[in-house]
Amino acid sequence: MEEDDLNLRYLNYIEQLFAAEDSALQETFNAMRTNGLPEINISASQGKLLQVLALAIGAKRILEIGTLGGYSTIWLARALPPDGKIISLEVDPHHAKVARENLDNAGLSNYVEIRVGPGLDSIATLVKEKTDSFDLLFIDADKDNYSNYLSQAFPLVRKGGLILADNTLRRSNLDDSPPSGTGQYNQTVAAREDLVSIVVPALRRRGMDGLTISFKR
Ligand SMILES: C[S@@+](CC[C@H](N)C(=O)[O-])C[C@H]1O[C@@H](n2cnc3c(N)ncnc32)[C@H](O)[C@@H]1O
Repeated sequence: MEEDDLNLRYLNYIEQLFAAEDSALQETFNAMRTNGLPEINISASQGKLLQVLALAIGAKRILEIGTLGGYSTIWLARALPPDGKIISLEVDPHHAKVARENLDNAGLSNYVEIRVGPGLDSIATLVKEKTDSFDLLFIDADKDNYSNYLSQAFPLVRKGGLILADNTLRRSNLDDSPPSGTGQYNQTVAAREDLVSIVVPALRRRGMDGLTISFKR
């Protein structure tokens, strides 16, 4: 059997057993398609992984960079206690509008605030506002800014919190010299003594990718 076919069987196995989508997640995906959003959301199995990680640290406040249609936001919001909150940052107003409708449809609007604008500007505003710290930061926006998101949002994450970054295991991570985008990000978090990090490979229908998980000491 071809390796790709076997990987697809593994993926189906994981998703059917551990990460079945309910109607709100399926409708979110369909609404993204209907509204012309790119299909670059995380997979269901990654959504479940984010959820397990958020639950494991008792996350009450989550900062997400890169909302798209709200697919990952739904997985994360479902890990929150009733008084929990996600602030999700999105540069594209059309994506933000579709995401708000999807979150409303999923009954999660009360948990989520979407801020529209370049992520770095929105983080600067959060710092200025002296926002409460976050338990979990999820970076999933423009890849060239990953290291900037890390340095700017790092002070907002509590000690004992998690910093997660998507799309961090790609061919470019092996081949680019000097490393760019996510390769640079992986090198940075791997070298920092105030973080304990690992990149976890993730099977996807589009092929292999990865999620970098960092624990803030
Ligand atoms: C990979 S998608 C996010 C997927 C989403 N987290 C999910 O899994 O459902 C990346 C998103 O980041 C947004 N984005 C790109 N550059 C950005 C920036 N500078 N600031 C904020 N958002 C940005 C894009 O518009 C896009 O919606």
